[in-house]
Amino acid sequence: MAAFFGLIVNPYMTSSIAAPANARLTTEQRVQALLAKMTLAEKIGQMSQLNASDGHAPDYLGDDLRAGRIGSVLNVVDVDVVNELQRIAVEESRLGIPLMVGRDVIHGFKTVMPIPLGQAATWNPDIVEANARAAALEAATTGVNWTFAPMIDISRDARWGRIAESLGEDAFLASELAAAMVRGYQGEDLSAKGSIAACAKHFAGYGASESGRDYATTNIPENELRNVYLPPFKSAVDAGVVTLMASFSDLDGVPATANEFLMRQVLREEWQFDGFVVSDWNSVRQLSVHGLTANDRDAAFEAATAGVDMEMAGDAYISHLEALVSEGRVDIETIDTAAANILRAKFRLGLFEHPYTDPADLPPIASKEALQTAKNAALQSVVMLKNDHDTLPLNAETMSSIALIGPLADAPYEQLGTWIFDGDPELSVTPMHAIHSLVGHELDVRYVRAMKNSRSRASEAFDEAVEIASDSDVAVLFLGEESILSGEAHSRADISLPGDQAELVRRIRATGKPVIAVILAGRPLTLTNIVDQVDAILFAWHPGTMGGPAIADLLFGVESPSGKLPATFPRMVGQIPIYYNQKNTGKPPTPDTVVHIDDIDAHAPQLSTGMTAFHLDAGYTPLFPFGHGLSYASFEYGDIRVSVEEIGLGETVTISAELTNSGDVAAEEVVQLYVRDLVGNVTRPVRELKGFRRVRVEPGQTVRVEFDLHTDDLAFYGRNMTLMTEPGEFHAWIGGSSDAELRTEFRIAASK
Ligand code: BGC
Repeated sequence: MAAFFGLIVNPYMTSSIAAPANARLTTEQRVQALLAKMTLAEKIGQMSQLNASDGHAPDYLGDDLRAGRIGSVLNVVDVDVVNELQRIAVEESRLGIPLMVGRDVIHGFKTVMPIPLGQAATWNPDIVEANARAAALEAATTGVNWTFAPMIDISRDARWGRIAESLGEDAFLASELAAAMVRGYQGEDLSAKGSIAACAKHFAGYGASESGRDYATTNIPENELRNVYLPPFKSAVDAGVVTLMASFSDLDGVPATANEFLMRQVLREEWQFDGFVVSDWNSVRQLSVHGLTANDRDAAFEAATAGVDMEMAGDAYISHLEALVSEGRVDIETIDTAAANILRAKFRLGLFEHPYTDPADLPPIASKEALQTAKNAALQSVVMLKNDHDTLPLNAETMSSIALIGPLADAPYEQLGTWIFDGDPELSVTPMHAIHSLVGHELDVRYVRAMKNSRSRASEAFDEAVEIASDSDVAVLFLGEESILSGEAHSRADISLPGDQAELVRRIRATGKPVIAVILAGRPLTLTNIVDQVDAILFAWHPGTMGGPAIADLLFGVESPSGKLPATFPRMVGQIPIYYNQKNTGKPPTPDTVVHIDDIDAHAPQLSTGMTAFHLDAGYTPLFPFGHGLSYASFEYGDIRVSVEEIGLGETVTISAELTNSGDVAAEEVVQLYVRDLVGNVTRPVRELKGFRRVRVEPGQTVRVEFDLHTDDLAFYGRNMTLMTEPGEFHAWIGGSSDAELRTEFRIAASK
């Protein structure tokens, strides 16, 4: 092998002389050949990522690039600047190693897709993959070759502002969609133009931050970590994700950025991940703020030893790793492994072959396809929470006027949501404009903003809103939260509609006109105080650039709503955490055991045998359960069947049910399969999502929807923290939400 390497003059360079020879080397051989040439300082340089966010980066980073002290930059999106940075790295540094260029491309680039939580509400991996692909194609025009997405932190707490960026509360749904996002960003061929490296974040447990306060402590028992928080990361790794990001958060006393268990045991040993781990923004140095380390040097030691390969936006590695190696505290193998992990990603991305970007090689920004993708995603992401007396869809032919009211009807920036560094509000089509285009020729469309923003407490403009509502056939209120109310470091303790929105709803309700609420928000909200004041609710999340046309089409029945909730909607904030796949407890509540605070004016029955698990003032059910979402069609489920009543380990059971559309419009329904493992060596959730499928059903049509369930699909981490499927009894439900009642049973035999 050594002799073979000897033939290669310069195996890692991009020159045409090296290229034919490179074709004979595997990626691993190229990584090792390059590593063998590197000095310790150059290896540590690869482990360092610096902010390059202003246009002068080539000036102030140039010397470090030439010296091989930088492996990656982030936040530079000017293609000329990126190409210049690459040129310095490739042509003026000793080894010519190109740069990873990172950016938060979270839900679109210039064309903005629905927020990830909204994308999760589509329950459609194809849509999610297409969104990521469109985002990658746009981002790649700038030379960005690495996005810090997908964000796949499970969250059961809607107070947490970053739930907007997440795929919701469920490990199965998030795992399916995480893989779809990775496929979308990275494409079939990571080295192809328009493919960018993905980054699964934040490893791990960030979504469990105490009381939803961003960056707060998390304490997650290992069993729950493995069963709930880690599966989406495993799924991303299996889908080939090139990088992971360590979380800011403290996990059971060891911040994720220094957590050897996560990064060495789980990620490398158990999952055999061979990409690289980047820290979060300055999270290495923050180990000292956490109080885990006393200074930057110790922080660099802890993070590098635990398995953070690259430091984002800090200088602890570049300043201290060399000394730590010479002192013998950090092994050279640790550095070699980290540098190799990073180089491997660069080879896979094809950066050595094509470090430069020509935007002309890629589709234009905001192409017709990208805008159509954004509209499809928005259409499928909207969840119809209620629709009393078929108030929706509206029929323009039988109406003469419509009142559009509220701070989010015409707010091009706000409909984009959080994390839109590059999003272009000028591309946004607002609901107000889209409704005008759709029905403006038939209807008198009136609009009153009524509130400066969602948080406003000034109600002077309410009278005008009441006036146009009284004068119109229907009032559509555009309520919710503007984008600044969710996202990183934007958590809320009260997640009801902010400002005087509930009062606005009451005033419009009093006109006696049908009232429809279209809610744009970055999280599930507590809607208890308005839910009975409106006839219908479309929950549209932050729907992105094409949110307006999607909402207009849904309001007027061009399409039927088909989104389903990816997170439970609590009645009130005190119920949090409330999620569908809870444990049964020893005292599960039933409708008969619940006592309402209003019913107990005499005394609450306080018995030594106790009662059951509910809140006196909220009961035990959410306002809207996980998986809920209505349609303009009428879907009925029936005739649930199992292919066999008993299977052996390693076998598959098919569970199916009939779905009938007894309504008069064709529509898509997300059919969901839930399973309960009745007895386990650790207690099992009351239900777990195990399958879902989006199907289109014509009026009067009945389809049978089947799910194949292999016994491996029923595996969970047991008491000894290994993955196992236990023989025994299972219940299975098929339906349109986690409340589904249509149930069957099957058994896994002990040995068969
Ligand atoms: C966030 C990351 C993000 C990074 C870079 C951090 O504050 O937690 O999710 O990728 O900044 O912008």
